[in-house]
Amino acid sequence: MRVIVESSPEQVARTAATFVASLVRRKPACVLGLATGSTPLGLYKELIRLHREEGLNFSQVTSFNLDEYVGLEPSHPQSYRYFMQTNFFQHINIDARNTHVPDGRALDFEAHAEQYERRIKEAGGIDLQVLGIGSDGHIAFNEPGSSLGSRTRLKTLTSETVRDNARFFEHIDEVPRLALTMGVGTILESRRCLLLACGKHKAEAIRATVEGPVTAQVTASALQLHRDVVAVIDDDAAGNLYRRDYYREVEQAQQALQAGKIKFGG
Ligand code: PGA
Repeated sequence: MRVIVESSPEQVARTAATFVASLVRRKPACVLGLATGSTPLGLYKELIRLHREEGLNFSQVTSFNLDEYVGLEPSHPQSYRYFMQTNFFQHINIDARNTHVPDGRALDFEAHAEQYERRIKEAGGIDLQVLGIGSDGHIAFNEPGSSLGSRTRLKTLTSETVRDNARFFEHIDEVPRLALTMGVGTILESRRCLLLACGKHKAEAIRATVEGPVTAQVTASALQLHRDVVAVIDDDAAGNLYRRDYYREVEQAQQALQAGKIKFGG
């Protein structure tokens, strides 16, 4: 796993945006996997800026979101469809028909989940999956104990996640206990994963993800099995990493290599 440690959440957003923007420029009809939550907000702001100021073109992009609460209307201010519309989609030129968020009101969740998986395949698979991480180490809503081979399905949220997410609702009792979520196996099939984390409250989950054993108790640790994961995190989220200095050295060496400062041969 490539670990890039940045000095601030703003820099995390800028660096993450360069990965997304370079893919969109290189492959205009790419498939993006998108995430909700506080962490990717800075990334979306930066992509909106690149769209407005540099003409970054999303017209051919297809997107699939990781998850959605069960029971919330798309127009509910806490639904993830609403989050994506207001924080990203309505500010760029993506075609609304190409944006996919699981439907938390589906009558037959199993059939809907299967259809979601099929749509991802029909679109050619996800080129780049943006991921946040829960303080319990979840990716999407794959709570501790989720199968590392899981596919899109219904999941019960842990009380830790419900507590974490209660800040967006008026009362904790309003937080849905169920969500439809891509599985760990679905996420691992993306061609590249871009994991973002900021803040001290993520430091332990990041340590377990990057340096702990691969375990279903920390579903983000399954990313160690993926061949192309870039974790962009801030200093606070990197606070518990044992090999933090080494990750910095790797990035410095990469930059020197790209700048032609490292020469090979006699
Ligand atoms: P956050 O959520 O970005 O709001 O911290 C991340 C997550 O739970 O996956």
